[in-house]
Amino acid sequence: MKTLTPALTFIFLVFWVLTGGTARAEEVDCAACHKKVTPNIVSDWELSQHGQNQIDCSACHGSDHKSEKDVKNARIPTPEVCAECHEEKVREFKNGKHARAWSSMKAMPTFHWQPMVMIEGMKGCGGCHKIGLKTEAEIKELSKAGRGFGMASCDACHTRHLFSVAEASQPQACQTCHMGFDHAQWEMYSTSKHGVRYLLKQNKTLPEGAAAPKCQMCHLPGGNHANQTAWGFLAVRMPLPEDKQWARDRATLMQALGVLDPEGKPTPRLEVIKKEKVVRLTQEEWQKERSSRPRIGSWPRRSGSWRIYIRMACSRSRRNTPSPTRIS
Ligand code: HEC
Ligand code: HEC
Ligand code: HEC
Ligand code: HEC
Ligand code: HEC
Ligand code: HEC
Ligand code: HEC
Repeated sequence: MKTLTPALTFIFLVFWVLTGGTARAEEVDCAACHKKVTPNIVSDWELSQHGQNQIDCSACHGSDHKSEKDVKNARIPTPEVCAECHEEKVREFKNGKHARAWSSMKAMPTFHWQPMVMIEGMKGCGGCHKIGLKTEAEIKELSKAGRGFGMASCDACHTRHLFSVAEASQPQACQTCHMGFDHAQWEMYSTSKHGVRYLLKQNKTLPEGAAAPKCQMCHLPGGNHANQTAWGFLAVRMPLPEDKQWARDRATLMQALGVLDPEGKPTPRLEVIKKEKVVRLTQEEWQKERSSRPRIGSWPRRSGSWRIYIRMACSRSRRNTPSPTRIS
């Protein structure tokens, strides 16, 4: 036995070196070449959890592109690629509104009346709505038009190639899209006391332990990537309420949006809106979403101050929505 062991070890070593050697000869050192071509991508990757856990470039981009001559063979990852290792996050994401951002944008009749510069490729509307999932056919079409980046969705909050949770956990991760006149969540939040306190915490004026909420606490509670709110963007819902005046107001809004016809009957657009989860269609569905907002600290939920806090954090008073007395 004593003489056999070194012999076996030797055979094993030869085998290991041979197989290891051949495998290495076939591999390309992506990072070495890309240090010259795209140095910031490589330095970001080196700092990332991926770089530090040996998740190399080819884990996401495949290994069919090996030099400057075959660049088109590089795989441009979609969330399906992330799902190979982060299945749960991708499943959650698919259940949320972000996943629908591309299709809901295209479902807007007014989208198709915009000048090309507003809608072509990933520009204009697509600059933000690219966070949504695209079909295979859409990906092909978009790639034909240009380099075809913007398919990944998952790099909207933890941007490539750092893919940092620390970055995604700050309200600034939402700022680039949730801003501007038609969805001014950033402006409302950052000028409210909630946001001001949070930003003062970030610049260390306030101590780390100071209570101050951020977008993620309310909208991705527990890290759940399936974001959705009760009222949603259009701030209308079915069924119509008992309050006659309110029901009339809401029906007018739905008629203006083309969801109800002038007689108040549903139009084919209702099907689109259902598919894209634009409105909650039953009281139960609305209530479920409404109740799922987490309780932050000791802020009261059903009292007047809950309503005021909603108006402070994400005020909807700019839209033709019910007054606070009607919200609860
Ligand atoms: C010998 C140099 C070299 C090697 C090795 C190399 N690349 Fe590249 N790669 C390039 C060049 C040059 C480009 C084009 C860059 C540009 O135009 O901005 C490129 C582009 C890319 C792109 C963008 C693709 C596109 O559609 O524009 C990805 C992704 C990529 N490389 C990943 C990799 C991966 C993964 C590997 C290893 C399996 C690798 N590269 C190996 C030189 C190289
Ligand atoms: C081959 C497996 C693999 C693939 C593919 C992959 N990841 Fe990861 N990812 C990891 C590992 C391993 C870690 C290290 C931490 C861990 O164990 O969760 C990680 C960590 C992360 C983190 C946490 C970083 C932090 O700061 O803690 C994020 C965010 C992330 N990945 C996003 C993505 C996204 C987005 C994609 C797709 C574009 C992707 N990953 C593709 C394996 C993978
Ligand atoms: C790349 C742009 C982008 C980024 C970054 C982004 N969002 Fe969004 N978000 C959108 C778009 C576009 C929609 C509308 C999707 C739809 O409903 O079709 C949306 C929808 C939402 C909704 C659902 C509203 C509803 O209709 O119920 C919530 C909540 C939300 N985002 C929160 C966040 C938070 C919190 C962050 C940061 C952690 C964030 N978003 C980062 C673009 C973005
Ligand atoms: C600056 C980023 C940005 C741009 C540019 C942008 N959007 Fe949006 N869009 C958003 C965000 C964020 C939301 C979600 C806001 C909310 O729920 O209050 C949204 C919501 C929507 C919704 C509602 C979806 C739903 O399910 O409720 C539609 C439809 C829409 N946008 C279409 C468009 C069209 C069409 C354009 C181009 C004319 C456009 N958007 C340009 C960020 C953007
Ligand atoms: C965790 C997955 C992941 C890893 C690991 C990864 N990439 Fe990427 N890479 C992406 C995603 C996602 C995109 C954006 C795709 C999109 O926008 O559609 C991207 C885009 C690119 C691009 C296009 C240029 C741009 O704007 O970013 C290049 C070049 C690239 N990667 C090179 C590399 C190189 C080199 C490495 C290794 C040092 C690497 N990637 C590692 C996920 C990854
Ligand atoms: C709206 C912003 C946003 C988008 C889009 C987003 N993430 Fe995240 N992600 C976050 C935040 C915030 C955290 C930290 C959550 C927490 O506190 O646990 C996170 C954490 C993670 C983590 C590390 C935590 C864990 O449980 O392993 C992974 C992995 C991850 N995301 C993958 C993905 C993938 C894959 C996608 C695309 C399907 C994606 N993310 C899209 C905001 C986002
Ligand atoms: C303290 C909790 C809280 C914070 C912090 C917060 N929100 Fe909200 N947000 C809410 C509530 C509650 C609603 C209304 C939900 C409903 O429809 O019933 C809402 C609604 C929304 C909507 C749906 C459209 C609308 O305006 O009604 C979006 C999008 C959104 N918030 C994004 C953000 C972003 C981005 C941030 C950070 C810049 C943020 N929120 C900060 C609690 C919060």
